[in-house]
Amino acid sequence: MSGVGPLIRNISDTALWVAVYRARETDRPDAVFRDPFARRLAGERGEQIAQSMPFSDRMSWAWAARTYLFDSFVSEQVQQGIDLVVNLAAGLDARPYRMTLPASLRWIEVDLPDILSYKEEILRDEKPVCSLERVALDLSDRAARQRVLEKLCEGASKALVITEGLILYLSAEEVGAMAQDLAGVPALHRWVLELASPGLLRMVQKSVNPQLGGSGASVKFGPEEGPLFFERYGWTPADVRSLLKTGARLKRLPFQFRLMALLPESKGKQGSRPWQAICLLKKQSAG
Ligand SMILES: C[S@@+](CC[C@H](N)C(=O)[O-])C[C@H]1O[C@@H](n2cnc3c(N)ncnc32)[C@H](O)[C@@H]1O
Repeated sequence: MSGVGPLIRNISDTALWVAVYRARETDRPDAVFRDPFARRLAGERGEQIAQSMPFSDRMSWAWAARTYLFDSFVSEQVQQGIDLVVNLAAGLDARPYRMTLPASLRWIEVDLPDILSYKEEILRDEKPVCSLERVALDLSDRAARQRVLEKLCEGASKALVITEGLILYLSAEEVGAMAQDLAGVPALHRWVLELASPGLLRMVQKSVNPQLGGSGASVKFGPEEGPLFFERYGWTPADVRSLLKTGARLKRLPFQFRLMALLPESKGKQGSRPWQAICLLKKQSAG
């Protein structure tokens, strides 16, 4: 907490916080991605929030690996012919400005109205590389989200949905309902999301939830089943890439994590292991 009120005032402030890590990676001479907009988007408030978080520096590698993996999945899916990306809870993500993407690709960002206006203002003189639309929507309104998603995906033949930094904040019931709804939109064929193990969830709950106090948000989701949680909602895990292994490959890990990264890992249930992965899900009814 700062002396003038809670640092994280609402859930959208978490977007400022995450943008700081993209700015920090961008500053490195050996950056694995560059986001030239991140520093401006995060602003001073983002930096204050990042500094207030426990293990802020020691965990930078995890944020870098997360962005790197989402970028990789998006690039691969674009190469495989998706014609629409729907970024739910897009926050201050600047992929449509910073990635190499076909000009013909449609990209839709969905988030709450205030964070989208803040972003729009900062990026107003910048030009996205593909066709970009922004939609202000409260994703917790299930009927509205279903209506809007169906409308947005009309005309797309093969769409990818990404949720980066969203489902960790939802309950298992809420994630299940979202998975079911996304499976019901015909054009949505693939979904990229990040997933924590129950063990990691407990650690993050201890360190991060107290910092989120002012926002009403808390981290909640780390299913026992791992990526197989999504099977009963119409989604099959197609590719699961561990954050730790990726951090090791990118040579970003502090010493104690390097030792952990040497252990073999399973892609299914993780139990009490502190594990996080970025997962590509394939809709069961899609080709
Ligand atoms: C941790 S940030 C992640 C932002 C971005 N995806 C990234 O990785 O940088 C979480 C985002 O979820 C958005 N969000 C949370 N609840 C939401 C809701 N009910 N409707 C729309 N957006 C929501 C917040 O506004 C915020 O931008």
